Amino acid sequence: MSEPKGARGRRFEGTLAPDAAEVNASVAFDQRLLPHDVAGSTAHARMLARQGIIPAGDADSIAEGLARVQGAFEDGRAQWDPALEDVHMNVEARLIDDIGEAGRRLHTGRSRNDQVATDLRLYARAEAARLIGRIDDVRRALVAQAARHVDVFMPGYTHLQRAQPVRLAHHLLAYEAMLGRDRGRIADASRRAGECPLGAGALAATTFPLDREGVAAALGFEGVTRNSLDAVGDRDFAVELVGAVALCQVHLSRLGEEIVLWMSQEFGFARLDEAWCSGSSIMPQKVNPDLAELIRGKSGRVIGDWVALMTVLKGLPLAYNKDLQETQEPLYDAVETLDASLRVAGGMITHLVFDTEALRRAVGQGHLLATEVADYLVSKGMSFRNAHDIAGALVRTAIERGVELGGLPLEVFQGESELFEPDIFEWLDLGRALDRRDVVGGPARARVEQEIARLQGELGD
Ligand code: ARG
Repeated sequence: MSEPKGARGRRFEGTLAPDAAEVNASVAFDQRLLPHDVAGSTAHARMLARQGIIPAGDADSIAEGLARVQGAFEDGRAQWDPALEDVHMNVEARLIDDIGEAGRRLHTGRSRNDQVATDLRLYARAEAARLIGRIDDVRRALVAQAARHVDVFMPGYTHLQRAQPVRLAHHLLAYEAMLGRDRGRIADASRRAGECPLGAGALAATTFPLDREGVAAALGFEGVTRNSLDAVGDRDFAVELVGAVALCQVHLSRLGEEIVLWMSQEFGFARLDEAWCSGSSIMPQKVNPDLAELIRGKSGRVIGDWVALMTVLKGLPLAYNKDLQETQEPLYDAVETLDASLRVAGGMITHLVFDTEALRRAVGQGHLLATEVADYLVSKGMSFRNAHDIAGALVRTAIERGVELGGLPLEVFQGESELFEPDIFEWLDLGRALDRRDVVGGPARARVEQEIARLQGELGD
């Protein structure tokens, strides 16, 4: 029998036009699915034998042959052939070359439509697990830096204006909180990809008595899809995973922005080990935070990946359409971009060296304790609105005199309200001001330490 190249078979006489073949082929990118394609095919072949659909000996040769084919592609002994379109046809053709006739039984009761839907879910779940590990590495790096900087005070900002003092540890742990949510969203997306589509066939299932649950269990799925038309046309799991990935990348972009600000001469809060910085080709003095900027910038492409996925799916009729092939590259790009960004973010966090003196100078300037003055008056019975007004007047006086609030004499305070007593100056102590913020989620020393201990317990240090 003459060998048909690719999936078209003898219904077709000639080959695809070269320009058509170029656009049709996906093997340049879907070769990432190789281990998942082999796992899916192996589980399928074993099930076919268990169900008496193919001989047991054939299933053994298929499983052994598939392992050899995977090895050959991985170490470069086998070359991907674009004329064979995709990873599925490349693996199958190579298998048939390797084991002969038995290889021709593998595709029984299956279509590339349920095959690729399965491979992509397996890929999404494996990559989600990897990303979760990377997120946890970054969370650990943040917690480690936080643990070293519990007693470093810095300005907390709103509108990028100095607002109230916080602990550097507290500021760093805000990013841990974002990444903790990202982790949950990625785990959730992975759970939703937990139904195995094999058995959905091209669109209308199969006439063979497949054991769908058995294949699903062998591949680590939690169950099977419930509608064959949806199973081959569904890429929701990709949209969800890339959505979670995009939000995580956006969080990293915010961290990147902070690193850029902190490393500027204007802030001067931190420097970064040279292994994580670039220089300038013209200005010899420059040490640039390129990696922090790239993490920030890459959020653009990952958001774009999510938009691309949604746009491909919009308006697609049931069931499988080749448009779905266009969901692969945005998925790979988003996952790979976040993976690299998380590795770089972890490295940068670990190698940030904070200038604790600069942070202390910054927190000491700008009347950041004005709210304490108002709270003091409230503790003596005044309404907050009136107290806010008086504190504002005192800030004005301090600015006129070129001092901080603690530099004003007691008489000036008492000129505004007779409720002021000498203990107001204790309230203007930074450490005390912070430790009074003793609520869950607040920057009091005890709360921050509790939070660090909780996270070290969860993540290990
Ligand atoms: N490369 C294809 C994809 O990613 C595999 C499925 C092909 N199915 C088909 N009916 N042409 O969607």
